[in-house]
Amino acid sequence: MRRPVIAGNWKLYKTVKETVQFVEQLKPLVQNSSHCDIVIAPPFTALSAAIHAAAGTNILVSGQDLFWEKEGAFTGEVSAPMLADLGCQFCIVGHSERRQYFGETNETVNRKTQAALAAGLTPIVCIGETLAEREVNQTHTVIQTQFDEGFNNLTVQDFFRIVVAYEPVWAIGTGRTATPEMAVEVHKQIRQFAQQKFGSEASRELRILYGGSVKPNNIKGLMAQVDIDGALVGGASLKADSFASMVNF
Ligand code: 13P
Repeated sequence: MRRPVIAGNWKLYKTVKETVQFVEQLKPLVQNSSHCDIVIAPPFTALSAAIHAAAGTNILVSGQDLFWEKEGAFTGEVSAPMLADLGCQFCIVGHSERRQYFGETNETVNRKTQAALAAGLTPIVCIGETLAEREVNQTHTVIQTQFDEGFNNLTVQDFFRIVVAYEPVWAIGTGRTATPEMAVEVHKQIRQFAQQKFGSEASRELRILYGGSVKPNNIKGLMAQVDIDGALVGGASLKADSFASMVNF
């Protein structure tokens, strides 16, 4: 039985004050929600405040990115052990915005994924095709390459600890959600790749989240699909009541 994950990726939003306010508002709305992992991913500057505000609750905290080296002369970077030390339990890796604007490749995603695992974090690894790729029927190939290269050299034991987020780039921030059927088609492919590379059990246990314009009014249809194990939500995760209503889908 795969435990759902509802995760909010805040991207470049919220100060420390706004973060604490959000967590205080969210707490009572999700205090009895034991059916899923509830994860928020604030920006680096607000992680500590989020972790303190969420202490003793069922709200878990995630980084949005990390660097693969533990420490060194890498100005501006934050490492996996630093996030773990702070109290993060998850970290998003390879978000399409990182790939698009910050030069992330499947190889850097692979290194970051391994670093997250080594530090005891659960990586939420994002994959997904662009509109141009979908239009020329490249979705399957693109996802397979992102999967194979992103998870290169991982052991089966490593793979058990990973969460995958399928985020079609054309659905992010556009209000254009993939239909549950479209999402499921790709989720099934991802599960198949997982089976080929890591075996049946790892594939069965893999949690695959959908991301891309998930909102309170469409999450039910997505979560009704057997192969969709949760959501990675951007814009609609920034208000506590909206996020809570998705947690309590
Ligand atoms: P939106 O929910 O704003 O489309 O963003 C999705 C996303 O990128 C989550 O990581």
